[in-house]
Amino acid sequence: MGQSPKVLPVGMSGMDRMKTRSANELREMFLSYFEGKGCRRYPSFPLVPDDPTLMFTVAGMVPFKPYFLGLRTPEVTRAVTSQKCIRTNDIENVGRTARHHTFFEMLGNFSFGDYFKKEIIPWAWTFLTEHIGLDPDRMYATIYLDDDEAHGFWKSFVGLPDERIIRLGDDDNYWAAGPTGPCGPCSEIIYDQGPEFSCGKPDCGVGCSCDRYLEIWNLVFMQFSRNEEGVLTPLPKRNIDTGMGLERLSSVVQRVKGDFETDLFRPVIDRACELAGIKYGDSEKGDLSVRVISDHLRASAFMTADGVLPSNDGPGYVLRRLIRRSVRYGRIIGIERPFLAGLLPVVNGIMGGEYRELIEQKSTIEQIISLEEERFLHTLVQGTDILDDEIARIKRSGAGSFSGELAFLLYDTYGFPPELTEEIASEAGVSVARADFDREMDRQRKRARASSKQASASMTKNVFTELADKYGATPFDGYDTDRVSAEVVAIVADGTLKREAGEGEEALVALSRTPFYAERGGQVGDKGLLSCGETRFEVSDTTRPSGDLVIHSGRVTAGKLTVGMTVDAAIDVERRDAIRRHHTATHLLHEALCRVLGPHVRQAGSLVSPDFLRFDYNHFAPLTREQIDEAERIICGQVLADKPVTTLVMNYNDARKPGVKALFGEKYGDVVRVLDIEGFSTELCGGTHVSATGRIGLVKILRDESIGAGVRRTTAVAGAAALAVFQENADFARSVCEALETDPLAAMTKLKALQEENKSFLRRNRELALSDMLSSAGEILKKGVRIGDILLVAASFKGASRDMLRRIGDRLKQMEKDSVLMLAGIEGDAASLICMASDSAVKRGVHAGDLIREISSIIGGSGGGKPSMGQGGGGEISRLAEALASAEKILRGQTGDSKNQ
Ligand code: ALA
Repeated sequence: MGQSPKVLPVGMSGMDRMKTRSANELREMFLSYFEGKGCRRYPSFPLVPDDPTLMFTVAGMVPFKPYFLGLRTPEVTRAVTSQKCIRTNDIENVGRTARHHTFFEMLGNFSFGDYFKKEIIPWAWTFLTEHIGLDPDRMYATIYLDDDEAHGFWKSFVGLPDERIIRLGDDDNYWAAGPTGPCGPCSEIIYDQGPEFSCGKPDCGVGCSCDRYLEIWNLVFMQFSRNEEGVLTPLPKRNIDTGMGLERLSSVVQRVKGDFETDLFRPVIDRACELAGIKYGDSEKGDLSVRVISDHLRASAFMTADGVLPSNDGPGYVLRRLIRRSVRYGRIIGIERPFLAGLLPVVNGIMGGEYRELIEQKSTIEQIISLEEERFLHTLVQGTDILDDEIARIKRSGAGSFSGELAFLLYDTYGFPPELTEEIASEAGVSVARADFDREMDRQRKRARASSKQASASMTKNVFTELADKYGATPFDGYDTDRVSAEVVAIVADGTLKREAGEGEEALVALSRTPFYAERGGQVGDKGLLSCGETRFEVSDTTRPSGDLVIHSGRVTAGKLTVGMTVDAAIDVERRDAIRRHHTATHLLHEALCRVLGPHVRQAGSLVSPDFLRFDYNHFAPLTREQIDEAERIICGQVLADKPVTTLVMNYNDARKPGVKALFGEKYGDVVRVLDIEGFSTELCGGTHVSATGRIGLVKILRDESIGAGVRRTTAVAGAAALAVFQENADFARSVCEALETDPLAAMTKLKALQEENKSFLRRNRELALSDMLSSAGEILKKGVRIGDILLVAASFKGASRDMLRRIGDRLKQMEKDSVLMLAGIEGDAASLICMASDSAVKRGVHAGDLIREISSIIGGSGGGKPSMGQGGGGEISRLAEALASAEKILRGQTGDSKNQ
């Protein structure tokens, strides 16, 4: 009695119809439903997009942006994905609300100028009501203010009554991926979860941000593109982009209160609770912590699988923050040891079926996350102490904010992301002086930048942007030929466009086409010559300062270069050949390292020059001599086999197959070059290569070193540079043999014999010196000073080791029972000290250890010991005499025997 029966009974009947399903089932249902509508199913695209305007893929449409904008022609006009996404703008809310996440999956279907509102509205409705079984009586649709067309379809095709079609404004029903780019009005499907989910406010209704009226699916009618000034222009075609969070859909279907209760998160949460020995639901702090951990760990695993490594900027910094935040929340619930790797199998169990990268790269992910976790744990305790002290200071003084300099120190030295410091401080009600932090950060950046040469490049940047806009990409002929005839299209000097450049002048030149390779993908730019009649322009570098506009920098060495001139553009072929050899050798090295160390090896960067190659990759331990030898054997085996090296030009999507290596973070175009070393390796690469591995001649690894957490660098040489290394090594060996007056075979034996001989000479030498010192004992004693009945001897010996000092001391002690012996030995530029005090001296109050401490400190060192025996030393031997002279005074102090007594 008294309860309003209005919504509940209808809803309950609908709920009863709905079968509860796992998230994995729901994902598959969505993908196959739209496959049935003619959409091509694509596997999720990487989390870091080929898009300079975005750090992460934030929606399903991101990988398709060029298609919406009409910049590229899609292979198909209908597509469907479950896209991995990262959004980090609300990271502090994760775990505090039922719906915030960093990583989530967006179920989306797309139309590139194909189906539109008329189709998608009834399709979406049918999928939710008939396939998933959501109660139609609980559903609403929101539409953009003036979108009568959408209104019409919701009403006539779906049969939604007017009062359940709600018109909302720009904030709710206009969608854009960012400030610029494709956008359009949208229509959202809202599901009423029932009054028990309501915030209880009197105006709670569609559009309320509480959990009752849940937005589950966004249908975007992508029709416009917004430019930097905010102006909208219609897109060439009308498109569809939809997005439905799998987490949210799962929570509705599984009838749970919030996404964290679904089968996507609960197993991870439960395992985290087990590790911490707590129960989910027992405390707010505990619940928040395990929810944060479950969210961040999923995100970290997927980011790592897509090639992100923890670092101090870009996507790597976000990954670092997520891992470090997880560690901190782990500590809040009492987990003090590394624990994240222990949760990864649970994540893999849930997600590994759909996302094979988690399984294929299991050990890499584990290692990268654990390494970062350990690094942070290392400084966490100290950092937390500093943080707590500062917070306590502010609270005591009752005013002020957390020092920005201190926040910077925490960041720089203890690895606390500033956002984490802010978060911890704000939990205590304290704010951080962020402006001061930013200033410190800025200073550090400036210091770093001062050493790079970017400043001058940015000066002329605008000219190049203009040129790139005007001329577009410079056609590159350098894959097939070493020289072409080309027109000079622009000359830039001192940051401005010029008509000509005279003899002796430095200039930057753009050509109508070029055989010069401009620096990219680690391969350095070409050098060479532009000539026309008398005119000679020596090219010292080739770069791409804006887009694919190629710029030749150099100097006019004869005649005059003018715009419009037709020049013979010829690269330095010998140099380019050396670069080719090093580039193909880099591919051989990459594959060889994968074979020797494991499939987790992934390129993190490279430098390909005529003189050497450098290859950066992720791996966690130094390479053993055997591993390096093995890699060299594999590489040289391929060289000896003289394998054909070929390039295929193909569509990017066709090229991205398992086993085809690609560089993470590299922006590939629509059409890519795939380099194939027959039967050995396949890699996306725009560089220049030899035509067969035999032409490399020879490869030698010079060294392998660590250049950061989990990242290593191998340096190697190929071709003539490798031969030069072998020759230098042989020359060196030869001169060693000459110096040893022997042949290479006997050199080692001879060297060892010489070392032994040398050792015995040294020993003999020391004995002789010692016996000299011992024989002068009588003289030394004579120089002693009597303090009461104790004789103080303070003396130094050149070339005496500590051991020798002890033997001298023993001899002196035999000769004079009541003594304090303060002895110094000078070897090289350091002095060692010992002090021996007889029992009688100790009884008189002498403390040898204390005496040594004082004397050592005078010579800039340290020492100490017992009353009867002490030792020490120091490096300021110029003050040794002064130090020894002070022994008398110190001793008088110890014995209370003043000089005048
Ligand atoms: N791109 C749309 C969104 O993210 C579907 O909501």
